[in-house]
Amino acid sequence: MIMMRCYTLLLLLLYTSSSTCSSVLPLCNHHDNSNLLQFKKSFSINPSLYKDWCFSSYPKIASWKNGSDCCEWDGVTCDTTLGHVIGLDMSCSMLQGQFHPNSTLFHLTHLQQLNLAFNDFSESPICPGIGNLVSLTHLNLSGSSFSSHIPSTISHLSKLLSLDLSYNELRLDESTWSRLIGNTTNLEELVLDGVDMSSIRETSLSLLMNLSSSLLILSLDETRLHGKFSTRILGLTNLEELSLYGNEELKVELPKSNWSTPLRFLDLSFIAFSEEIPDSIGHLKSLNQLWLQSCQFDGLIPVSLWNLTQLTQLDLSGNRLHGEIPSLLSNLKHLTYLYLSGNTFSGHIPDVFHNFTKLHTLQLSSNSLGGQVPPSLFRLTQLSVLDLSSNKLGGQLPSSLFDLTQLSDLSLSSNQLIGPIPSKNTTLPKLETLDLGNNSINGTIPDWCYSLSSLKYLDLSMNQLTGPISKFSTYSLENLVLSNNKFQGDFPNSIFEFLKNLEYLDVSSNYLSGLLDFSYFSKLEKLNYLDLSNNKFLSVDSNSRVDYVLPQLEYLTFSSCSVTVFPSFLPRLQNLGSLDLSNNKIHGKIPNWFSDNLLHTWTNMFFIDLSFNQLQGDLPIPPNGIYYFSVSNNNFTGGISSTICNARSLNMLILSHNNLTGKIPQCLGSFLSLQVLDLQINNFYGSIPENFSKNNDFETIKLNGNQLEGPIPQSLAHCKKLEVLDLSDNNIEDVFPSRLEALQELQVLSLRNNKFYGTITCLSRKHPFSKLRIFDVSNNKFSGPLPMQYFEEFQGMMTLNDSSS
Ligand SMILES: *[C@@H]1O[C@H](CO)[C@@H](O)[C@H](O)[C@H]1NC(C)=O
Ligand SMILES: *[C@@H]1O[C@H](CO)[C@@H](O)[C@H](O)[C@H]1NC(C)=O
Ligand SMILES: *[C@@H]1O[C@H](CO)[C@@H](O)[C@H](O)[C@H]1NC(C)=O
Ligand SMILES: *[C@@H]1O[C@H](CO)[C@@H](O)[C@H](O)[C@H]1NC(C)=O
Ligand SMILES: *[C@@H]1O[C@H](CO)[C@@H](O)[C@H](O)[C@H]1NC(C)=O
Ligand SMILES: *[C@@H]1O[C@H](CO)[C@@H](O)[C@H](O)[C@H]1NC(C)=O
Ligand SMILES: *[C@@H]1O[C@H](CO)[C@@H](O)[C@H](O)[C@H]1NC(C)=O
Ligand SMILES: *[C@@H]1O[C@H](CO)[C@@H](O)[C@H](O)[C@H]1NC(C)=O
Ligand SMILES: *[C@@H]1O[C@H](CO)[C@@H](O)[C@H](O)[C@H]1NC(C)=O
Ligand SMILES: *[C@@H]1O[C@H](CO)[C@@H](O)[C@H](O)[C@H]1NC(C)=O
Ligand SMILES: *[C@@H]1O[C@H](CO)[C@@H](O)[C@H](O)[C@H]1NC(C)=O
Ligand SMILES: *[C@@H]1O[C@H](CO)[C@@H](O)[C@H](O)[C@H]1NC(C)=O
Repeated sequence: MIMMRCYTLLLLLLYTSSSTCSSVLPLCNHHDNSNLLQFKKSFSINPSLYKDWCFSSYPKIASWKNGSDCCEWDGVTCDTTLGHVIGLDMSCSMLQGQFHPNSTLFHLTHLQQLNLAFNDFSESPICPGIGNLVSLTHLNLSGSSFSSHIPSTISHLSKLLSLDLSYNELRLDESTWSRLIGNTTNLEELVLDGVDMSSIRETSLSLLMNLSSSLLILSLDETRLHGKFSTRILGLTNLEELSLYGNEELKVELPKSNWSTPLRFLDLSFIAFSEEIPDSIGHLKSLNQLWLQSCQFDGLIPVSLWNLTQLTQLDLSGNRLHGEIPSLLSNLKHLTYLYLSGNTFSGHIPDVFHNFTKLHTLQLSSNSLGGQVPPSLFRLTQLSVLDLSSNKLGGQLPSSLFDLTQLSDLSLSSNQLIGPIPSKNTTLPKLETLDLGNNSINGTIPDWCYSLSSLKYLDLSMNQLTGPISKFSTYSLENLVLSNNKFQGDFPNSIFEFLKNLEYLDVSSNYLSGLLDFSYFSKLEKLNYLDLSNNKFLSVDSNSRVDYVLPQLEYLTFSSCSVTVFPSFLPRLQNLGSLDLSNNKIHGKIPNWFSDNLLHTWTNMFFIDLSFNQLQGDLPIPPNGIYYFSVSNNNFTGGISSTICNARSLNMLILSHNNLTGKIPQCLGSFLSLQVLDLQINNFYGSIPENFSKNNDFETIKLNGNQLEGPIPQSLAHCKKLEVLDLSDNNIEDVFPSRLEALQELQVLSLRNNKFYGTITCLSRKHPFSKLRIFDVSNNKFSGPLPMQYFEEFQGMMTLNDSSS
């Protein structure tokens, strides 16, 4: 080994006359060598350790071998003269295991730079031994699953220039903080994102002013700081980055004058200001990124802000800003991200985007912006996300971008616009998201929109768009939402045929008509969600003989159309979870395969709505797992099979308005999550289920319009959340159920048209029936006086100010 090294040295000396022996190959100090090997032994490599922030992870430690020179190991830097280890960069190294207080790492007292970021130290505390490393200038323990208190010994590291303890589960005590800030007088970078600093008071926080001449970067995101944050810190003369994101309890005031500092990055999102953005912001000439999301800023955007021509990222979303977006916006042509969503901006969107050659994301959604979509947006070559949804935009989308760009070139010809006139393929070549939903855009979908080459998400819903839907040739499309428009014409079966990546398709609430041939969808192998509902004249062609399956389709909503036969393609939807065929004209019996599939194939089924059709024959029985099952307003006959007792996951069971008969299965009363049991207007007979459990969830029980007999079960009083109890139009023979007085949520109690008898007595509990709004005991055989107390206590009927439900 040593022979080899000398031989190499000799060669090097021969060929590089200027090199000296020690500067070429320092020999590792043997103490450091064995300390590092011990350190290695205390951790394992976890190759599946995935850290979001790592560009790449690999086990650097694998190159650490006993017998080789530690100065050559991955991540190790040595002092060139004495061979002491002075730098250790173990970031993104897949290390896993506990850090012991006696770790040999703390013996490496010559260390100047230590980076252990993005490993997994299994919630070890940072050990006090860290204070031994007094030569450290750079310490980075970011995102490595350290927990507990930061040891007070950290304040011994008086030479620190950079300290990053972000994204762990750490707490910082006030005394440790004060001593740290007092001793690290040259600190340039302080990054404590996610450290719990809630115990640090205003006065101690202001100690940061002692770092005024050195501090360049201060990042205290989500540290649970509270109290007032000294405005003077925002004005620190050398500060280039300041981030206080997500400290909702912190009171910050922006300097109103003389704020001309070299700040490049400022993030104050989620801090409540409740004032206007001051003019002084315009003095921050170096600002690249300004993040002021959800800060409760009101008023207008100060004119001075449009002077910040270096801005690349600007986020003012979720505030209460109003007024127009001025054409001065055109100054900010270096912008890559612009977020102004969720304010109340009005007026037109200025057509000033010609020079925004780097714009990646533009979000102006949820404002009150009117006028048209500005044409200059459509020639942006880097635009990836355009979200103008939930505004008042009107007019038509430009029919041809080719003409449009020619036109704008003509009108701006003196400005020497860069780049060629876009051809069909180069219009918005990077656009992935186009959301223009919830506006008043009219006209038809323009041709270019069908072929945007990178588009993944297109939402044009809730507009006034007309005409037929044409063929999409954008293979990248994953989400297509065209609902709530005025699209008409025969359902063009093949239009979506080639969208191999389509996962979500919603064309509901339009005027589409004709026959849908489901076999055309068979190429949409990833389709998961399909909503065709509310197209009054749309039906389904059940005669397709092509063999196909739709393995991913989970949600099928086909309500309020013109479907007349039970769709035969359903068995091909192997993963069906939610089926809505309500409000059609489906008649006849439900085919046997439906019940078979329910029991054996569709194990994820959780929602079935077949209500408002003309279905006949036996009731399909919901299996366990379903939470919503409605077949109301059909013509089902026969009884409820006792196998329904398996469906204990039911939240809503709605079988009303059929011609069902037989007894009501007793088990229904014992279902714990059932909220709505609606069996009204059928021919059920026998008694009401008796075994209502304690802690049940019943809110609505409607058994009216049957032929039920016998008394009211005592256990109904267990239904503490009950709001509606309708037992009217039956043959129930009992005295008045006074014990239901205790049901504090009850709003409707109807016993009308039964065989109740005796006097209505009050058990004089406190506030009997306090929320009752409807109390109907008519058409029975009650006798005697009505109890005054009830009428005095019917608060729900007297106070009508509550407009809810
Ligand atoms: C390295 O190897 C030497 C000689 O084989 C041995 O004595 C020493 O204990 C080893 N060190 C470690 C840390 O394994
Ligand atoms: C450090 O302490 C742990 C347990 O406290 C022990 O297992 C380990 O061997 C010790 N390591 C060294 C290097 O002394
Ligand atoms: C400040 O740092 C020096 C040098 O490491 C150390 O001796 C001293 O104890 C530290 N003071 C505090 C208050 O931690
Ligand atoms: C800490 O190290 C991580 C990983 O190398 C790096 O991303 C981060 O910027 C470093 N922190 C500082 C303050 O340099
Ligand atoms: C901070 O600076 C002030 C005045 O410059 C000084 O009096 C105080 O001792 C310093 N605080 C610490 C903790 O060093
Ligand atoms: C702003 O700076 C000027 C010149 O440096 C100074 O005269 C003035 O007092 C400062 N104003 C405030 C409010 O600090
Ligand atoms: C914007 O900058 C220009 C030139 O630097 C300056 O004349 C003007 O006063 C500034 N406007 C505002 C509102 O700060
Ligand atoms: C685009 O930039 C050029 C050159 O900087 C300028 O002359 C032109 O006015 C700008 N166009 C718009 C619409 O701002
Ligand atoms: C489209 O909208 C514009 C402006 O909102 C309106 O002037 C025009 O009449 C509308 N066109 C149609 C066909 O509805
Ligand atoms: C557009 O792109 C597609 C595929 O990238 C290519 O086949 C077609 O020829 C291009 N058309 C034009 C007009 O460049
Ligand atoms: C229900 O079925 C009966 C008998 O088959 C029929 O007379 C009646 O019209 C049907 N009702 C509805 C609403 O389909
Ligand atoms: C209900 O079913 C019975 C037979 O079970 C039939 O006689 C009756 O006509 C049906 N009623 C309605 C309204 O369909």
